[in-house]
Amino acid sequence: MKTYKIALLAGDGIGPEVMKQAVKVLKAVEARNPEVAFELNEALFGAVAYFETGKSFPAETIAICDEADAILKGTIGLNHEDSKKIPVDEQPERGALLPLRRRYNTYANFRPVYLPQELAHFSPLKPEVIGDGIDLMIIRELVGGLYFGEKEVGKDDNGKRYVREVLEYDEDQIRDILKVGFETAQRRKKVMHNIHKSNVLKSSVLWNEILEEVAVDYPDVEVKHILVDAAATYLCLNPGQFDVMVMENMFGDILSDQGGGILGSLGLMPSACVGPEKSYYEPSHGSAPDIAGKNIANPYSMIGSVALMLEMSFGMEQEAKNLWHAMKSVFANGYGTPDLAKGEDAKLIDTDAFGDMVVDELNKAPRA
Ligand code: NAD
Ligand code: IPM
Ligand code: MN
Repeated sequence: MKTYKIALLAGDGIGPEVMKQAVKVLKAVEARNPEVAFELNEALFGAVAYFETGKSFPAETIAICDEADAILKGTIGLNHEDSKKIPVDEQPERGALLPLRRRYNTYANFRPVYLPQELAHFSPLKPEVIGDGIDLMIIRELVGGLYFGEKEVGKDDNGKRYVREVLEYDEDQIRDILKVGFETAQRRKKVMHNIHKSNVLKSSVLWNEILEEVAVDYPDVEVKHILVDAAATYLCLNPGQFDVMVMENMFGDILSDQGGGILGSLGLMPSACVGPEKSYYEPSHGSAPDIAGKNIANPYSMIGSVALMLEMSFGMEQEAKNLWHAMKSVFANGYGTPDLAKGEDAKLIDTDAFGDMVVDELNKAPRA
């Protein structure tokens, strides 16, 4: 029997609602796989932690994460007005999420943009644009660039306010994420789109220089270069041309939310944040304050993040496949949460019902 310790950081907004479904699924997986046990350790993280302890990533939570084999995170953050109740540096994005990423050096962020035929009707794109479905992997560098560079806010000699934020990468950081891109492309279609802005940014010039060096070790992978602004358009007009897309932190933040847009909802965007020793898993979306507390959030991104954890941290590939299949089956049966199911024949279900149906579908798959 192998016991995995999982830190559960439900967070703010819809975080606790979608995390509840993840826990349901984990308990079902545990019941189906007698050789594994999950030790689930809940910890405060985000605005909820700040209001309770004065810190959005408290020491007790850090200790639980340090002990864990993997971390499962819900969502953090408050709406624009409520955010102002927390000092800027303790706000959950700067005070909890970025420190979590930095602490475990989770530099490789996998954000699958996946729309099989069973989900195709949710997309705003025309069927002829979707073709056989969308299946691409955004690989976003997660611990460098503008997010982690030096920041300065002040007043100049004329009394004018100014701000300075530094976009910084060293060659090791660039090489490491590009290797992840190449290795992922080798496991998939052997094509990698390099997304950059070398017509303006020196960081992209260095990025591309290092890419040339790294590419020598991956002669079987074809590299295609696309400027980030054009890539945004192609994602809408012809997403089928992409398979693996690799890019720096900020570009990845923006294009991955666009990924949610072409699928039909951010509720369809799970993610894995992988570090050398520890990884954490989270939906790509935020805390959705506009729908929090109503039991209507789509938990697919959260449950998909569980599937990624089973596969990438625990080596449970078959069970991860079963879980993806279970989620697809719920949609194939015509159900959808309100972000997705529109129109007269929509069979609307809530957050809890989606979680329950996924467990029922999962239990139809043969046990380990
Ligand atoms: P958001 O992703 O929370 O919401 C954008 C839109 O998508 C909203 O209309 C929301 O209702 C919808 N949406 C998102 N997830 C959904 C789901 N699972 N089901 C149904 N609809 C869903 O982005 P935002 O409104 O710009 O940000 C809200 C807060 O979340 C901010 O404080 C932001 O900083 C934070 N945030 C946190 C994370 C994170 O925890 N990793 C990620 C992004 C944003
Ligand atoms: C994401 C989020 C975060 C980011 C925020 C909440 C700091 O938008 O995970 O995409 O910008 O990385
Ligand atoms: Mn984002």
